[in-house]
Amino acid sequence: MKTNFFLLSLLAIAFIGFAFTNSPEQKKGGNWKIPTEYKTKANTMKGDAEALKLGKAAYAKHCRSCHGNLGTGDGPKAKNLETHPGDFSDAKWQSSVTDGELYYMSIIGRDEMPNFESKITDDEERWGIINYIRSLKK
Ligand code: HEC
Repeated sequence: MKTNFFLLSLLAIAFIGFAFTNSPEQKKGGNWKIPTEYKTKANTMKGDAEALKLGKAAYAKHCRSCHGNLGTGDGPKAKNLETHPGDFSDAKWQSSVTDGELYYMSIIGRDEMPNFESKITDDEERWGIINYIRSLKK
């Protein structure tokens, strides 16, 4: 009887341990180190309706799966990421980043944020995505 209780306790502990390691807290992405030439990079497609249309379509194709429909970081792939993809609707975050910084984060990326240099080559489309991200601000 005693050994049974001991084994059951072990099982319970193992189960609890398993449950916890299987749902770790998603970490927040820290500050980005962005090269100066990107920080001040000029948005050549600012206010361009055609670029925005391209950007919207490209976002749906390449970004939505992680960043979600409204950019809040709740796409179907997001829960499997170690780092939360951020919240594009957040006005405070929006005003803290330049278009050039957004360009760097979106096209160059880092770690779990993929590099899109070879997938998205057209500059009109790239800036269109940045403009679309801007339109997600609440
Ligand atoms: C596979 C999932 C995934 C896809 C697809 C993806 N991202 Fe990300 N993205 C991430 C993750 C994870 C982070 C956070 C990375 C970090 O902080 O280290 C991130 C961060 C970002 C950030 C910075 C957010 C912040 O709060 O600092 C921007 C901007 C961004 N992504 C734009 C895009 C764009 C634009 C696309 C499509 C062209 C895209 N991402 C596609 C996972 C993804």
